[in-house]
Amino acid sequence: MSNEPVLLVTGASSGIGEAVARLFAHEGYRVSLGARRLERLQAVVADIETAGGGALAVQADLTKLEDIQRLVEDTLGGFGRIDVLVNNAGFGRIKWLEELDPVKDIQSQIQINLISAILISREVLPFLIKQRSGHIINMSSMGGLVASPTYSVYSASKFGLRGFTEALRREVGVYGVHVSGIYPGAVRTEFKQHAGINRKTGRTTPDSLLLEPEEVAQAVLRVARRPRRGLIIPWQMRPSVWMNMLFPGIVDRIIERSFTRLERDL
Ligand SMILES: NC(=O)c1ccc[n+]([C@@H]2O[C@H](COP(=O)([O-])OP(=O)(O)OC[C@H]3O[C@@H](n4cnc5c(N)ncnc54)[C@H](OP(=O)(O)O)[C@@H]3O)[C@@H](O)[C@H]2O)c1
Repeated sequence: MSNEPVLLVTGASSGIGEAVARLFAHEGYRVSLGARRLERLQAVVADIETAGGGALAVQADLTKLEDIQRLVEDTLGGFGRIDVLVNNAGFGRIKWLEELDPVKDIQSQIQINLISAILISREVLPFLIKQRSGHIINMSSMGGLVASPTYSVYSASKFGLRGFTEALRREVGVYGVHVSGIYPGAVRTEFKQHAGINRKTGRTTPDSLLLEPEEVAQAVLRVARRPRRGLIIPWQMRPSVWMNMLFPGIVDRIIERSFTRLERDL
């Protein structure tokens, strides 16, 4: 049996997950890729194999428990172990709460961003504990540290994922299993296409702060190589996290004046 470490990454059919799969394969990992769009996964697998790597595409709708279980079984069946799990699949619907559809926007967002990550971790964990090694890396967001208007449900899912990450680390660290969170700002991916953002002021994240998915993948690799509790990227976002933590009342007022009143036409 091969000695190369194994990565299982969800949401690997585009954006950050795809970049993580490609980078880890380049770094010698065998890679199992999960998502719904099989052709997209197969195209990534074909590229990895052409470059001499090992990869596996598993079609899975991660809102379904049976698909989660099959993804983990197929990965273990194909590669015999899992060393790094990156819970990355997710989406955001970025609108005022009263505009969000209860099922398509609210329940499904919490389901994929939070509950599926919890359920996959629960399936993988017994193997990591048995191995006495392994790493679960959860793709949270700046929205998991600083809550902004129109991000209420997205932030609920990503704050939830952060809470899960922190507690699980304290549950399993004693077995040599690491648990980390990644907190990126805005990233140039298909995320925006699904988000339905509609700003009256037309304001968006400046290009200078927009990350490429490959930069986030590099951050994931850094965390996998040198485990730590979490990583905020880009570093320019860190002061806003500290400001929000130390002076939440001031941040409330700044956001109300500079965003909410303008966007709500008040
Ligand atoms: N882009 C940003 O600005 C940003 C910033 C911070 C954090 N993030 C987080 O980064 C993660 C990846 O997002 P991205 O920016 O790379 O966007 P993306 O390109 O839209 O990728 C989202 C991935 O999630 C998968 N996915 C969605 N629903 C799924 C389901 N029910 N079952 C299985 N897979 C599902 C999609 O695959 P299929 O459609 O093929 O199933 C796709 O591969 C998300 O958790 C997002 O919240 C993004």
